[in-house]
Amino acid sequence: MTESGDTVARVDWKLYESEATGAFDDASTLAELEAANTKYLGRRSPLKQALREVRERDTGRTLNDLRTLVEGARDAASARISRAELEELLREESFDVTLPGDAPPRGHYHLLTQIRREVEDVFVGLGYEVVDGDEVEDTYHLFDALNMAPGHVTRSPLHTLFLNGDVVLRTETSASQIRVMESREPPVYMVSLGRVYRRDTIEAKNFPIFHQVEGLAVAEGITLADLKGTLLHLCRAFFGEQQRVRFSTDFFPFTEPSLQLAVSCFLCDGAGCRTCKHTGWLELGGSGLVDPNVLRNVGYDPEQVSGFAFGLGLERIAMLRHGVPDIRLFWENDLRFLEQF
Ligand code: DAH
Repeated sequence: MTESGDTVARVDWKLYESEATGAFDDASTLAELEAANTKYLGRRSPLKQALREVRERDTGRTLNDLRTLVEGARDAASARISRAELEELLREESFDVTLPGDAPPRGHYHLLTQIRREVEDVFVGLGYEVVDGDEVEDTYHLFDALNMAPGHVTRSPLHTLFLNGDVVLRTETSASQIRVMESREPPVYMVSLGRVYRRDTIEAKNFPIFHQVEGLAVAEGITLADLKGTLLHLCRAFFGEQQRVRFSTDFFPFTEPSLQLAVSCFLCDGAGCRTCKHTGWLELGGSGLVDPNVLRNVGYDPEQVSGFAFGLGLERIAMLRHGVPDIRLFWENDLRFLEQF
């Protein structure tokens, strides 16, 4: 303690103050801050030294005030530097939590499902009921009740996939007509959409699994005009007002008379081209007035009620509307195809 007051006397405290506050004000990194802190406020800094040595009250108070002042400059610098570092960090690594995120890739319905729902919508709009049918049927509902003769060609295992005895994969949705009529009294207005199965070779226009929409209307006084008006409405809804629609005679065991439904070819507009085999028309499916035998088979009285029915291929509708050239495209699950719709 011999040199008591030495430091106090030796140092120019005005200069110390301006150097110390200047050093803190100039510090722009944590390292510079540390260095200034050690130099001006550290244990061995002149100020701390002087504070340990001072004996005089006034000088002590002056030095204490100086310490408070320099510490204030340090704290301000420290706050400024950490704020700057935080800002820098935010600038480099930040993200705006209010920005919309990356949208997850979103799928959509398969074209056939879209068509199926659209067909359902058209008929629900007409007051029809949508009924589920079974893909596994028995030969009574698929053949006998539909008035098919015992020797009818689709009864052959070459055409139809038999599961077991008289249990088969349905070759058409028409069995749903029988199921519905068996379960209720007329009037009936229903559509039934779903898969059907045939022992067909896979090629551009054929696939052993495909989809149909079955329709049935039974009530008093139903005529062929009702059938034509209904199918015309469906075709207009699907293909537009300008699409021409043709009915031609045909034969089905379960309708009498039977009509084939065709629309003008989307490619050549009826002029004739390869797609429509130079007929100008593309077939959509069959229809007709329900055969009295079918009505009798379900216990309806053909003298009291009459009805019309139709069965159209959904793949056909999709292919016609979108110009899809090959039915196999529906089953390949190639996104380049599916994403177009
Ligand atoms: N079931 C027929 C087929 O698969 C289509 C059909 C024709 C259904 C006439 C009907 C109909 O309901 O009345 O080719």
